[in-house]
Amino acid sequence: MNNQKLIEAAKKVSQEAYAPFSGFKVGAALLTASGKIFTGCNVENSSYGLTNCAERTALFKAVSEGEKEFVELSIYSESDKVFYPCGACRQVLAEFADDLKITIVSGSKTIMVTLKELLPHSFKL
Ligand code: THU
Repeated sequence: MNNQKLIEAAKKVSQEAYAPFSGFKVGAALLTASGKIFTGCNVENSSYGLTNCAERTALFKAVSEGEKEFVELSIYSESDKVFYPCGACRQVLAEFADDLKITIVSGSKTIMVTLKELLPHSFKL
């Protein structure tokens, strides 16, 4: 899988973000071990705490379609302000993919990390 394809998918879906409160539109594209791409955007709510981040939207879509093995994630926001997945998304992603490779694109800046680096000791039952 070409990393650029995953980034483009994240960029495209960021246009669907519903972010009237923060104005911060995010897109995520998750690559499954079987080679499929699932995308998601952030969906905000008037009751702010009910907001769903782009990463969890993509993951929940994928799991709902029977996918449980993930190898790579790209996330995109057009803002040049560098961002990282929130703590909730790190934990939710870790449930399925401790070794996930993550590419974060913030406008013109690109950062590559692993989920292990972002969340070294996730909670597991
Ligand atoms: N957000 C994401 O969707 N993903 C991230 O990695 C960081 C934050 C969203 C949540 C909220 O809608 C907006 O960005 C501002 O926090």
